[in-house]
Amino acid sequence: MSVHNEVKRVTTESFRKMKAEQEKISILTAYDFTIAKIIESGGVDAVLIGDSAANVMAGHETTLPMTLDQMIYHAQCVVRGVSKALVIADLPFGTYQSNPKKALNSAVRMMKESGVHAVKLEGGAEIADSVKLILDAGIPVMGHLGLTPQSIYQFGTYKVRAKEDFEAQKLISDAQLLEELGCFSVVLEKIPADLAKRVTESVSIPTIGIGAGPDCDGQVLVFQDMIGMNKGFSPKFLRRYMDLFDQMSEAVGNYVKDVKSGDFPNQKESY
Ligand code: KIV
Repeated sequence: MSVHNEVKRVTTESFRKMKAEQEKISILTAYDFTIAKIIESGGVDAVLIGDSAANVMAGHETTLPMTLDQMIYHAQCVVRGVSKALVIADLPFGTYQSNPKKALNSAVRMMKESGVHAVKLEGGAEIADSVKLILDAGIPVMGHLGLTPQSIYQFGTYKVRAKEDFEAQKLISDAQLLEELGCFSVVLEKIPADLAKRVTESVSIPTIGIGAGPDCDGQVLVFQDMIGMNKGFSPKFLRRYMDLFDQMSEAVGNYVKDVKSGDFPNQKESY
């Protein structure tokens, strides 16, 4: 008798199958239990605990301040809210770039302490040794190429990457290298759509786009951006499905009005 619930989980193997069968892969970010539950009830294939938590949750300008302990805390909260989707967590800046053993330790801590199913790392050839060691330990790795926010001070801006031929060529060879190493998929962030198409056709692992056009094998967005909680962030690639900032702000305004006027709580809301 199985002690496991009979929920059919999305796995890294499902990702491979979805690409082979040309079924697009849907991913959203989450950083907490409540949002994770909402996202999963909407039917996403995977939930990403992105280090964009640094911006969205903590109000930092970049993702660089995020620590491994903070990422593990967010990942633990999300894992408790998800029963079917694949759960992937970012390894934050400074926890894998400098040395492969450190990278392995960071990935092992993330897996053991949070219960996620895979980790995501930014970069190509420069981090190949780290990616390899993590994969050798049996931990699934998702790559991330193009605009890699952990390198923002090297780029200088959040503009579209790989418009020049030399950078486009490097991006294609990095994607192929990540596939050869054994990554199960790769995020392509903010690159020209025709380059994303070329990458998607040149690797057998799924490409997941964010600002990379319609030809990727899947798409990812930051949840708070797609439901319009963040009015100050309006890149061209973002489709907003709600205007939640305005709706939430109006609800708060109504609550304040009701408290001030003495209308809340009324008799039915009292013991
Ligand atoms: O940190 C993040 O949310 C991400 C996605 C935008 C891909 O890496």
